[in-house]
Amino acid sequence: MSKAASTRNTSRSAGASGPLGLLASLTPLLHEWLPRQRWFAGKGRPVSAFSLVSATELLPVGAAPGLLHLLVRAQQEPSAGSGPTGDCYQLLLGVRTSLPPRLATALVGRAAAGPLAGLVVYDALLDPRLTALLLERLRAPGRLGALRFDRDPAVVIPAGLVARPLGAEQSNTSLVYGDTFILKVFRRVHPGSNPDLELPLALAQAGCARVPAPVAWYETTEPEPATLGVLQPFLFGSEDGWQLALHALADGHDFTAGAHALGRATAEVHGTLASALPTAVLRKRQIQHLAAEMTERLETTARAVPALAPYAAGLRTAFDALADLGHAGRVWAAQRIHGDLHLGQSLRARDGEWSVIDFEGEPARPLAERTRPQPVVRDVAGMLRSFDYAARSHRPWSPQWATGCRDAYCEGYAAVSGADPRAEPELLRAYETDKAVYEVLYEARNRPDWLPVPMAAIKRLSTPFPTRAPKLPRRPPQ
Ligand SMILES: Nc1ncnc2c1ncn2[C@@H]1O[C@H](COP(=O)(O)OP(=O)(O)OP(=O)(O)O)[C@@H](O)[C@H]1O
Ligand SMILES: [Mg+2]
Repeated sequence: MSKAASTRNTSRSAGASGPLGLLASLTPLLHEWLPRQRWFAGKGRPVSAFSLVSATELLPVGAAPGLLHLLVRAQQEPSAGSGPTGDCYQLLLGVRTSLPPRLATALVGRAAAGPLAGLVVYDALLDPRLTALLLERLRAPGRLGALRFDRDPAVVIPAGLVARPLGAEQSNTSLVYGDTFILKVFRRVHPGSNPDLELPLALAQAGCARVPAPVAWYETTEPEPATLGVLQPFLFGSEDGWQLALHALADGHDFTAGAHALGRATAEVHGTLASALPTAVLRKRQIQHLAAEMTERLETTARAVPALAPYAAGLRTAFDALADLGHAGRVWAAQRIHGDLHLGQSLRARDGEWSVIDFEGEPARPLAERTRPQPVVRDVAGMLRSFDYAARSHRPWSPQWATGCRDAYCEGYAAVSGADPRAEPELLRAYETDKAVYEVLYEARNRPDWLPVPMAAIKRLSTPFPTRAPKLPRRPPQ
């Protein structure tokens, strides 16, 4: 019998392994371990309780090692972006009688009670034996307890690829298999299809070469479907746009060719998303709602970060201008977009081709908001802010470098899409302002040293553009 078949036969779902019993074993360990993980989103707020959403034995606990797949809800005081009952996390836990020294860093703890009493629990994603099993599951689609594995039958996934953790600072956990594939294990799980699977799959199926096409994925079916992980080709030897931009700055090199290519890649992605997935038209009501949301975020941030307050009135004019245009009958096309586009979300492969990655959007925002059709200018604004960030992280500051990249990016975008994002100055200013306000809050909370970077943009954006008569309503693209 193959290894895959034997694991399928011995696997059990939550009911059989006793979810309440499992929590008795795991709760004390998770209280210590979970808040320390880089991907734990609720930092600074104590976890009051854990509840088990689902549990699936990928290898029985009696095996050496056992492998548990768990969805665990961590109950905390609510905060913006977290559900009312706390966030749900995906855990893959190994279980052994003792932990070999090579796995010491994976230790979660030794259970003192419940069905795992006396056994060592550890992060299975650091154990090559257990990550090999996960790949086997992805190679052999089918159901397993609460889990369902799926794949593109046209792509060969070789057996026996060894995984290494990516080791990047990230909000999920990625494993690189044999430098050939990368598996992204989503840590914070939201009901529904994760856009980081949905969009690359739609793009790849429509023939867009700007994404590493998903080759296998898995989801939970309990209590409702939710994407848990995606396997994609690993672009070996690629460099991300942020690193390339910083190297260019350090070496005094021009980056406009890279920015132009990135603009083209973004437009290709947008064009394909518009034809493959639903679109919408933003009219008066939606535009005013958008402007009101942006204004609300500005006001909340100005209360939290005193440095922003003196600029709030000037910044508000960006959102007022947007609302006024909506009121005057202006409409904008909306479609599925990346949602969190910046230089670090682009990879240049060794052959010079650019790919766009990480279509999750801003994970702190609710999924319904992230999957809503939005103007493409929102992505463009994200990338323009990123050029500014890169330029300002280098001494001496080179505003011309950022301006050159911004122009080249928009020109590249226009060369493919036929529409220059700079031709929408009010919309671009509103999205750039909204992004800069978000950055101010983020930097004030997490990296106060970086606060001057978004504050410089805040100063620029708080100066209103010269007033001009609103244009006539435009027909939305068909
Ligand atoms: N297909 C790929 N080929 C090569 N490297 C990749 C690939 N996909 C992702 N990476 C690398 O892995 C890193 C993390 O990937 P990704 O951004 O998808 O994870 P994330 O958990 O969403 O990160 P973040 O917390 O930054 O949002 C990327 O910055 C990139 O360096
Ligand atoms: Mg991400």
